[in-house]
Amino acid sequence: MKLFVDSGSVKEIEALASIGIIDGVTTNPSLLAKEGGDRKQILKKICDIVKGPVSGEVVATDYAGMVREGRDIAGIDEHMVVKVPLTRDGVKACKTLSSEGMRVNVTLIFSGASYVSPFVGRLDDIGNNGMTIVQEIVDLFDNAEYPTEVLVASVRNPIHVIEAARMGADVVTVPAAVIDSLFKHPLTDIGLAKFLADWEKAQGAPAATKA
Ligand code: E4P
Repeated sequence: MKLFVDSGSVKEIEALASIGIIDGVTTNPSLLAKEGGDRKQILKKICDIVKGPVSGEVVATDYAGMVREGRDIAGIDEHMVVKVPLTRDGVKACKTLSSEGMRVNVTLIFSGASYVSPFVGRLDDIGNNGMTIVQEIVDLFDNAEYPTEVLVASVRNPIHVIEAARMGADVVTVPAAVIDSLFKHPLTDIGLAKFLADWEKAQGAPAATKA
């Protein structure tokens, strides 16, 4: 399973990319608004850092506007993926943009899209089980043998990430704070502290007894 970071923060993405664990990035209008500045410049910077798929979402809501904006977003960099909402116009725009060779990410099932993004956290929020829906989508796409990749989005905790991997999702896009918590495990901290303490103790001990 590939790991994307769900962020519009150049600083955050730079820090995670330097560890070497990021395959791509998803953004949305809210995340980019938080970052501020020019959308195209920010997306270009992100592409240069990640050199993998970077989703940029259209804000137009009509077919013609989405197609126009989608072409503009795709023109920013070869790594750009155009994200459209699952509305009638969004589906129509997906078809047009993908037939022109652009990669499109839609927020629900649709053949012809490169990525389909179930929003698990938001589904949980309205009383659905987001991960159950992910399993259904993975099964459906496996059976239909579409090349579309299932991209698990709106991730709120490490369990969502683990479940996504177990269910056979292709990609999970994770906020930086949740990636941080994936690094945190009490046994790792305790184990590391013990190793370091033992090592320090041995350094202070007489030569004959040193480990
Ligand atoms: C994915 O592409 C979206 O940007 C994102 O995962 C939405 O997450 P949220 O529900 O936490 O805002």
